[in-house]
Amino acid sequence: MDAAAAAERENEMTVENTRDVAVLGLGEMGAAIAGALLAAGHRTTVWNRTPEKAEEAVAGGARRAATVPDAVAAGEVVFISVKGAAAVRKILEEAGGALAGRTVVNLTDGTSAEARETARLAAGSGAEYLHGQIMTIVPGIGHPEAVVFFGGEQAVYDRHRPLLDLLGGKGTLVAADPGVPVLYGMSVHGIMWGLLNGFLHAAALLTDEGVELKRFLDQAAPSLAALMSFLPSIADEVEHSRHAAEYGALRHHHPSVDDLLRESRDRGVDDRLPAHTLSLVARALADGHADDSYSRLVDAFRTP
Ligand SMILES: NC(=O)c1ccc[n+]([C@@H]2O[C@H](COP(=O)([O-])OP(=O)(O)OC[C@H]3O[C@@H](n4cnc5c(N)ncnc54)[C@H](OP(=O)(O)O)[C@@H]3O)[C@@H](O)[C@H]2O)c1
Repeated sequence: MDAAAAAERENEMTVENTRDVAVLGLGEMGAAIAGALLAAGHRTTVWNRTPEKAEEAVAGGARRAATVPDAVAAGEVVFISVKGAAAVRKILEEAGGALAGRTVVNLTDGTSAEARETARLAAGSGAEYLHGQIMTIVPGIGHPEAVVFFGGEQAVYDRHRPLLDLLGGKGTLVAADPGVPVLYGMSVHGIMWGLLNGFLHAAALLTDEGVELKRFLDQAAPSLAALMSFLPSIADEVEHSRHAAEYGALRHHHPSVDDLLRESRDRGVDDRLPAHTLSLVARALADGHADDSYSRLVDAFRTP
């Protein structure tokens, strides 16, 4: 094939693969999503409650829709990225009959119940539905390592995969139920906040002593790396309700947490994190679980 024929074939393929998409909501995240779709050459229609915010997308080649139904009618796949499930509900209600035959990809955060309710609303209007839980900030959109947890029917996910992969290279369908990716997302965030709070409490202690944090991180790296490697065995213990521990049982944790609490108090550092941990461990000991693994504390989270 000569160069001209190859260019023509590439052009045909591009045209074949070009989709009609709509993006509703052009805040920080919606604008980035519209940008990724436009950069991939898709015919993109945009709508935002405050119309001026569409200007950047329009300058990038998007068509501006004046109303929600107009935007939804223009896209076979309709991405929604706004603040809160109530805003999504309002958009779906406004879209009405225009939703029939469309695929709604809702990328708006909320609770699992809200995602399920949104899915019901979309289905009630004849639309297919995918929930997407974006696990990156704006600069990560389109990055090969960016994670998006999706929930919905496998066939719908597979059909739209080339579009969905534009959001992040590590997109995964985690369940048919749209509530599950929401739980995945908030679980990662919950673990992140636990880790960051633990680190920042430690940072308050270490800097009070004048210890350089990077030096601490270098020297403590093997201990810190080992923490992540415990998680699969903790998960196993929780799932099988098998908490018996040969070593490192809760009775050993108790004095160590107490040391951390007293050290914090001695230095005038906030002691609420270790105090909370100590109360969880003390309750497990009082319930007769001194010889159990730390995983036993899942009971305290299940029945506060
Ligand atoms: N930003 C991030 O890094 C990030 C990362 C992961 C996930 N997310 C999620 O992405 C979603 C959008 O976040 P964002 O960062 O883009 O928020 P944002 O910059 O604050 O923008 C909010 C968007 O929601 C729209 N909106 C709010 N209330 C509305 C209503 N009642 N009706 C119609 N539109 C309404 C706003 O429209 P107006 O312009 O008219 O106010 C705007 O387009 C959120 O669920 C967020 O949690 C964001």
